[in-house]
Amino acid sequence: MAQINPSYKKLAAGYLFPEIARRTREFQAANPAADILRLGIGDTTEPLTPAVVAGLRAAVERQGGLEGYSGYGDSEGIPELREAIAREYQKRGTAVTASDIFVSDGAKPDSANIQSIFHAGSIVAVQDPAYPVYVDSNVIAGRTGEASGGCYNGLVYMPCTEKNGFFPALPDRKVDLIYICSPNNPTGAAATHPQLKHFVEYAISQRAIILFDSAYAIFIRDQSLPHSIYEVEGAEQCAIEISSFSKSAGFTGVRLGWTVVPDAVVAEETAPGEIKGLWTRRQNTFFNGASNIAQAGGVAALTDTGQAEMAGRVDFYMGNARIIRDGLDQIGVTAFGGDNAPYVWMRTPPGIDSWAFFDKLLSECHVVGTPGVGFGPRGEGYFRLSAFGHRENVEQAAERITSRLVL
Ligand code: MLT
Repeated sequence: MAQINPSYKKLAAGYLFPEIARRTREFQAANPAADILRLGIGDTTEPLTPAVVAGLRAAVERQGGLEGYSGYGDSEGIPELREAIAREYQKRGTAVTASDIFVSDGAKPDSANIQSIFHAGSIVAVQDPAYPVYVDSNVIAGRTGEASGGCYNGLVYMPCTEKNGFFPALPDRKVDLIYICSPNNPTGAAATHPQLKHFVEYAISQRAIILFDSAYAIFIRDQSLPHSIYEVEGAEQCAIEISSFSKSAGFTGVRLGWTVVPDAVVAEETAPGEIKGLWTRRQNTFFNGASNIAQAGGVAALTDTGQAEMAGRVDFYMGNARIIRDGLDQIGVTAFGGDNAPYVWMRTPPGIDSWAFFDKLLSECHVVGTPGVGFGPRGEGYFRLSAFGHRENVEQAAERITSRLVL
């Protein structure tokens, strides 16, 4: 008789964002007149920029002609895009080359899949709170025990708190894989160079691997902060970086991301190049490459015009983040983030937990956000507001929060 992967049964609840969508739908059904504003999932709302649209259109036209038509491509991505991405890393003084870049259909699948090339017995450390994919993918892979008290046994949680500025201390025991997201989803905190250096030195000394998610790097305003872990000396020996066009170019629906696996990155008993070879093998087996049309859109996004347009979008969303922060300041709510990331991380009012605040915000203001506890136990007592939204909706949400929320 067929049996299912028993690890799926360990997963605590539904995936966070569908759960929010479900609760929102229920509220809407019970309150049909409510005009709900959504600052929950970090999903881009502004249209693709003209340079990207032109790039996509031209690619579609090519595919419609005998000469321009192409079928399967390299699962690593088209050379032009890999080179364009590598150039962005090189501009920041890193030694990343096009052959280190593996283009994909997004940072979420790569974040979930990357663990498959590591030993099933690897000890995994995550920031707490963290983007749920890091935890759930390792639960499914069988690297954890059962959940108890909001934590999975066997997983190492690195607390990110107000006290440590939402960047963790080193793990308190030996670990093999360390997930770091900077700028951080959900707290909005961006790691400094010394903070990342500390982790890189630790990883090299322990032969651990850092899985670094830089999907929000383009939102960094403070240019002294690293955009990539490879800006830290030695990181190429111990870090794999995952990133995305989703939030920068508005590709949440188009789907395009990449993973950087340098030759130098090594684990226990592997030679340089071996980990890169495993990721190549994994992608060749499970993946046929990102859409050639989406990749053309990525190339267009990285032209000078495309980048200027992306910068405009990023400024726009960061303007939204300011509006949200200002609104919360006005009513005396303590909030963080929104300076170098499109997420604002607020404390819930005393005595109100994250999910209770979700209900309160929805019923009093008709605004949807994300309960902090959905990102891990240290997210309890916090709530995330996303800066992705049309300007009038964000303004209206801030106005409702300041005028209607009962504190
Ligand atoms: C989020 O809201 O945390 C993200 O947008 C979800 C995602 O990128 O998958």
